[in-house]
Amino acid sequence: ESASKGGYPHFMLKEIHEQPRALVDTLYGLSSDPTLREASKIMAEARRVFITAAGTSYHASLHFAVALSKIAGVLATPFVASEYEAYLPVVREGDVLIAVSQSGETMDTLKAARAFKERGAKLIAVSNVVDSAIPRESDIALYTRAGPEIGVAATKTFTTQTLLLSFLVLDYALLRGAILKSEYDEYARELSRASDLAAKSIAWSEGLAKKVSEMLRLKQSMYYLSRGVGLPTAMEGALKIKELAYIHAESYPAGESKHGPIALVEEGFPVVFVVPRDVYYEKVLLGNIQEMKARGAWIIGVAPEDTSLGEQFDLFFRVPSSHWLTTPITHTPPMQLLAYYTSTLKGYDPDKPRNLAKTVTVE
Ligand code: AGP
Repeated sequence: ESASKGGYPHFMLKEIHEQPRALVDTLYGLSSDPTLREASKIMAEARRVFITAAGTSYHASLHFAVALSKIAGVLATPFVASEYEAYLPVVREGDVLIAVSQSGETMDTLKAARAFKERGAKLIAVSNVVDSAIPRESDIALYTRAGPEIGVAATKTFTTQTLLLSFLVLDYALLRGAILKSEYDEYARELSRASDLAAKSIAWSEGLAKKVSEMLRLKQSMYYLSRGVGLPTAMEGALKIKELAYIHAESYPAGESKHGPIALVEEGFPVVFVVPRDVYYEKVLLGNIQEMKARGAWIIGVAPEDTSLGEQFDLFFRVPSSHWLTTPITHTPPMQLLAYYTSTLKGYDPDKPRNLAKTVTVE
């Protein structure tokens, strides 16, 4: 077993470090795969677009929905797979459901896909496992090329899913005439930097993640906040610390603090702010950071190196400055590492967190 860990103490750490390669492979796979265009055509012919998944894959789906709205000007409906019944009554022929599942075997997602198909919707699968159940039952399947993921926590499958789904948005937007070819090329150029961005993000944050974990291991509760394009990534950060370090973590849109959650904040309460590279978000998040600081919160920033908010943070995870579309790729690795090191410091096995299975094949 230790041989397959490639010298790393755990699969999770190995898989975090495999992200640059997984992103290159996924990018390469997409560039030579005509199914991306076919999937865009299915979407372009569809009346409405739904996207479903569970856990980490759901966070990737949220990224897709945000990007589709911003780039293509089209609204997709994302939903947690186990909640599919609430959406079923409105589904009919002409709709499309994108089912995202790294394993392709998650029962909640499979059931949602089957139910939508029965009502006449077309199915697009996004998976990491060729010919798994969900791709088999779909009209078309797109694959990330992350390689096998052994650690229970999804890491490289998340960043590769967001890369693939971003390309699906771009291809669709181009097909629908929502963007020009020159705009497509510009976005694609940003995405093609994914591997390099992830490599930098990992290298820049590993030392700090180790240090911060020493303080974090004593905490019982924390928040992961962001807005808009940063929110799916913040949600992913919260899930990682929950499932691996067993710290209660909540992620919600930063603007909601004043509507309730800020009541919990006291001296030393950790709040991670995920700051996308965007002047607008920097401006609105500044207010949210300050309201937390005023209550004594311990502010951990995950932000581009050139952010204007650097001085606001008690601890600053610098990530490479890049387009907002790559936020999950640049900002997730520090939070994966933080969860990993906090987990191991507390004496837990991050590869096998309690009560969890890698693939949930029951309802
Ligand atoms: C993430 O770290 C978890 N292991 C879990 O949330 C997972 O993403 C979820 O169960 C969905 O799995 P899938 O992508 O294989 O469908």
